[in-house]
Amino acid sequence: MKVKINIDQLIEIVSKGGTVKTGVDIYNQNDLLLIDKDMLVNNVNTLLYIKKNGITDICIQPETAGGIWDHNGKEIDFISAGKKEFVSTIEKKIQKITELKKTAKIKYEHAKQNIKQVILDIKQTGGEFDYETVEKTVTDLLNFLTVNESAFSYLTKEIFSYDDYLYNHSINVCTIAMAVLNRFNDQFSDTVNRFLSNAYVQGLKEKDLGSPISYVQYLPDEIRDIALGYFLHDVGKVLIADEILNKNGPLTGEEFELVKQHSYGKGLTILTRNNLDHNPYVRNSVQFHHCALYSGEPRCYPETRTAIEIPIYVKICKLADIYDAMTSKRVYKEAINPIVSVTEIFRKYAEKDSLLQFVLHAFVKVVGIYPAGSIVSLQNGQLAYVVDSVGPLVIPFTNPHGRTLQERMEAVNLEGETDPNMQIDRRKPLKSPVDAYELLPDYLRQPLDN
Ligand SMILES: [Fe+2]
Ligand SMILES: [Fe+2]
Repeated sequence: MKVKINIDQLIEIVSKGGTVKTGVDIYNQNDLLLIDKDMLVNNVNTLLYIKKNGITDICIQPETAGGIWDHNGKEIDFISAGKKEFVSTIEKKIQKITELKKTAKIKYEHAKQNIKQVILDIKQTGGEFDYETVEKTVTDLLNFLTVNESAFSYLTKEIFSYDDYLYNHSINVCTIAMAVLNRFNDQFSDTVNRFLSNAYVQGLKEKDLGSPISYVQYLPDEIRDIALGYFLHDVGKVLIADEILNKNGPLTGEEFELVKQHSYGKGLTILTRNNLDHNPYVRNSVQFHHCALYSGEPRCYPETRTAIEIPIYVKICKLADIYDAMTSKRVYKEAINPIVSVTEIFRKYAEKDSLLQFVLHAFVKVVGIYPAGSIVSLQNGQLAYVVDSVGPLVIPFTNPHGRTLQERMEAVNLEGETDPNMQIDRRKPLKSPVDAYELLPDYLRQPLDN
């Protein structure tokens, strides 16, 4: 059995005169041997060097003579010490989820009041709203996203009326799309630039790539404007009749023409009345978020723009828009399981234009995870609480028949699980962090209001 010990703990022991022997070879990411399995580590610099190589935990294997000794040469019971550390890490994770839920509730309330006011103002004035308040709300949502990439899954999906849907949708699309854009900007922009310059060298044309040949990473000021565009993308719907938007059944050709107007027609009119039409980032998302993501995609509008002409951030807006519409309950349809929705979107757009694949991957990486605080079903029928999306790390809290367990079980990292019964059952619905709270036993929840 290998036991993972935090490197800082080992540094502390060795700096006080202790010794460590791993019993397993430790390598860095480039397969360079850092510690031999039989090496006695009593120099703290060795551990500091390993830490500098990005290693946060070290495995120790007692069966192959691995162990930790204090300055008197007395062996330290690191298995129970490690367990204690693990349990307290889990406690901290549960605490963090609770904090995030509380913050999300407040942020959501603020954003909701704001967009409600925007809708009211537009209805009363025929198009004007208080831009400064919208800007503050969007900045606040952006800051919230820096706390946690899957922060959007902590926002409520409760919908009581069409207006409710519209403000819910605005907030959700803004937070989902921003999380995807940040991920794309951080992790894919270099790859995309390399890809584009190679493509250019190879003589590939824009039409082969689904993108212009140049791409520049988005800067903070641009990101703020892009976020505003995401928040306002459907603002034109405020001027479209509710009976059409909420119609329980297929739209007639005439009705569809009216609905289409919410983007390049009414949406643009509202932006112009508020002097926002000069901002390309806001304007493009409002006008073109229903455009084709690849050449030839059906039922897209306006058709005056081809997929190549649609900027990356608008493509992200469209993906977030489709995802939120699929995962939301409406008068005419039930909500679709988030994991099923991601899979469907991926299948629809995979292997289309080359550049779209990078956007799609950033999207799947952000929304295709099991966020901490949600509940998943395991293949054996147990429900499990996700305490970390990495793995994911879960705590099962029911028996296979759905009956709540009276005592808290140990956390399991599903990544290392070989038992097929302990895999996630992807057909069963995922409960979002907001919906999960009521289902949890007392030992997994802490009061949300205090
Ligand atoms: Fe739209
Ligand atoms: Fe939308």
